[in-house]
Amino acid sequence: MSEMKTPFRLLITGALGQTGTELVQRGREAGYDIAAFTREDLDISDSDAVARAIAATVPAAVINAAAYTAVDRAESEPEAARAINSLAPGFIARACHEAGIPMFHISTDYVFDGMGSIPYPEDAPISPQGVYGATKAAGEEAVRRATPHHIILRTSWVFSAHGQNFVKTMLRLAGERDELNVVDDQRGCPTGAGDIADALLTIARLALEAPRDQAFPWGTYHFSNRGETSWCGFARAIVEGSATRGGRKVEVRGIATADYPTPARRPAYSVLDCGKIQRTFSIHPRAWEDALAETLDPLTNPAHRTEGRSK
Ligand SMILES: NC(=O)c1ccc[n+]([C@@H]2O[C@H](COP(=O)([O-])OP(=O)(O)OC[C@H]3O[C@@H](n4cnc5c(N)ncnc54)[C@H](OP(=O)(O)O)[C@@H]3O)[C@@H](O)[C@H]2O)c1
Repeated sequence: MSEMKTPFRLLITGALGQTGTELVQRGREAGYDIAAFTREDLDISDSDAVARAIAATVPAAVINAAAYTAVDRAESEPEAARAINSLAPGFIARACHEAGIPMFHISTDYVFDGMGSIPYPEDAPISPQGVYGATKAAGEEAVRRATPHHIILRTSWVFSAHGQNFVKTMLRLAGERDELNVVDDQRGCPTGAGDIADALLTIARLALEAPRDQAFPWGTYHFSNRGETSWCGFARAIVEGSATRGGRKVEVRGIATADYPTPARRPAYSVLDCGKIQRTFSIHPRAWEDALAETLDPLTNPAHRTEGRSK
């Protein structure tokens, strides 16, 4: 991304999460003035604190990367999930609207029921299967109600070198066990948090640099990496990628969802159709395997950690 003329200030919530970390790092590299708020700095479920943070920072836009993302735990903590995923995005969007700035929000493929068999476009009917998906769907609605000047980016199966995610869990288990049993009948698309950050930063720049009198295509967009796989296919790629970088080669066996009961029901098929973001903003997602390779480098070779990203 080339340097922009005006260093727009972006307020980023959830700055220590997978996507938050990438937004802060890549945002600074792209020339934005980043005001990063971790959960400790700003609890997004506190509406007064949200308004105060925006008033004190005077950002050009807010990107909400904070969320309650524990899909299974949400089943037993619906109120906590609702406060963070449903109500808080509405507080942020309302404060943005009052400040006359746009809001960028992230949502999930888990708003869909997963009964489909072709990629879901943005206007496909939603029908979340669990508390997490339902609270995220309500958060989308709260944003739409509070301000027309929003981008809601639905994404899927997020991974990165930071925080908790499936890639790190599989690498840990591959170090401990000789065989991994992984669900093979849920299909979706793994997505690198850095790629989500790049997509959001690109749209933010287009929005902030757009002439005031020109209508901007605000709304809901799908963004994931390209391709699709099952959790088992994803696990195999992680283990193979790790093995080629010196890690243990362990067997990954496919199992059925029915053989791995979890508190939350998950969609069987949640591939997102990313045509709209490509047509509207010329954002062309790369293959999930390429994003995975970039993430495996620092995770499998500690020497990479001090070298920074190669991108
Ligand atoms: N992870 C996925 O597979 C996935 C898939 C589809 C969509 N998404 C969506 O993508 C977005 C980013 O996800 P991610 O995986 O980057 O999330 P993440 O790594 O779980 O990070 C979320 C961050 O939000 C923080 N947070 C939680 N409650 C907060 C509160 N009340 N106030 C302020 N911060 C709070 C968390 O802090 P603590 O760690 O201290 O709780 C964490 O740092 C979310 O909107 C998520 O719903 C994620």
